[in-house]
Amino acid sequence: MPSVVVVGLQWGDEGKGKVIDLLAEFADVVVRFQGGANAGHTVRFGDTKIITNLIPSGASRPGKKVIIGPSVVLDPDRLLGEIQALQAGGFLVEPERLLISDRCHLVLPYHKLLDEAREKSRGRAKIGTTLRGIGPCLEDKASRLGIRAADLLQTTELEDKLAMRVREVNALLRMYGFAEVDIKQLLADTMDKAERLKSYLADVGEIVRLEMERGKNILFEGAQGAMLDIDHGTYPFVTSSSTIAASACTSLGISPQKIDLVVGVLKAYTTRVGEGPFPTELHDERGEILRQAGGEFGATTGRPRRCGWLDLVALKYAVALNGAGYLCITKLDVLSCFDELQIGVAYQLDGNPLPGIPARSAVLARVEPVLEKAEGWKNYPGRICDIREQQDLPRETKKYLDKISGALSVPVGLISVGPTRAETIMVKNPFRR
Ligand code: IMP
Repeated sequence: MPSVVVVGLQWGDEGKGKVIDLLAEFADVVVRFQGGANAGHTVRFGDTKIITNLIPSGASRPGKKVIIGPSVVLDPDRLLGEIQALQAGGFLVEPERLLISDRCHLVLPYHKLLDEAREKSRGRAKIGTTLRGIGPCLEDKASRLGIRAADLLQTTELEDKLAMRVREVNALLRMYGFAEVDIKQLLADTMDKAERLKSYLADVGEIVRLEMERGKNILFEGAQGAMLDIDHGTYPFVTSSSTIAASACTSLGISPQKIDLVVGVLKAYTTRVGEGPFPTELHDERGEILRQAGGEFGATTGRPRRCGWLDLVALKYAVALNGAGYLCITKLDVLSCFDELQIGVAYQLDGNPLPGIPARSAVLARVEPVLEKAEGWKNYPGRICDIREQQDLPRETKKYLDKISGALSVPVGLISVGPTRAETIMVKNPFRR
């Protein structure tokens, strides 16, 4: 039975939340494998809209096991708030369905303060982080100074670890001109949350390996996108984790041979939040039209997203990094507002063709995209959000999809033509061979 990994192929915000929610219907287990509360996954059905930062989007499907994997950095405040909000909305009413890795590193209040302090000190060179403490938490993890969920189970050890960490953190905060952390308060807050989190903690790697052996369908949910990957993205304007499909294996501790399919999600155009190079960005009114038509405001921070044409150069790179074998194209309906579309098909630097993605963001920022025109479907008399079969799409829309699929040499398996579950064309179910 298949194990399917879903990843973003752009700079995040590709619409993975809706895709995961849809595919969760065919899965037994949904596993979020990286990132933290920097992600915001929006799912709409009927009049209900759910935004989750940490809990897998499949939580809205009764009976599914939802798991938070070891590489996710866990903000206890946000997690508890999310559990409460989901339950108040009538979702996740069986708490035993949620399992959280006892290996997750905790995002504590000082990580968020350090995130803010660093961003302020960078001035114009800021990354534009979500200020959710992700970078500082993962720094602590790599420095072997992190506090993990399992540490919540052992009070004296936790006290010692926190006291040691806070000494250095307070020195840093002083240096940045920020108020120091009160260790007593921090300890009391952390212990309070520990009480409420304990029952969810488990060795989830072992559980996922067992479920795989039993032949269950596993859906791995990625966060952010390939171009925000710490190693392969537009460094330093990236997140602090590995966002590509392989990270599902390192997070859960499963063999890469056990993954049957990588589903790459891409928006029909491109957006990015925060700073960093964006070759096909639109700086004119067309960017604003996309922003308004697509509701391109961050689900996590509310920041307006930068908008631009589809970038096939970055997408080819992302497909290669992930080994994507199935494409989900989202927000196709948003492009209905244009008479004519453009697609980035190559990069040029100082008038010369540029093969591949340069390592230095300063170089990528100077790149000129080579844009190809594509016909729009503005004159189509109906609304493409009402279409449920690929063959019924306007001729120009089909050509646009063929261009993407042809350039990337990957078939289109799912097309999203609106935010709700119903507004979807499933060409092929990725869980069926
Ligand atoms: P951080 O992950 O909060 O450290 O932010 C680093 C960069 O990644 C910033 O440009 C953020 O806007 C971006 N980023 C982080 N998470 C997401 C996401 O889920 N969607 C889109 N951008 C994100």
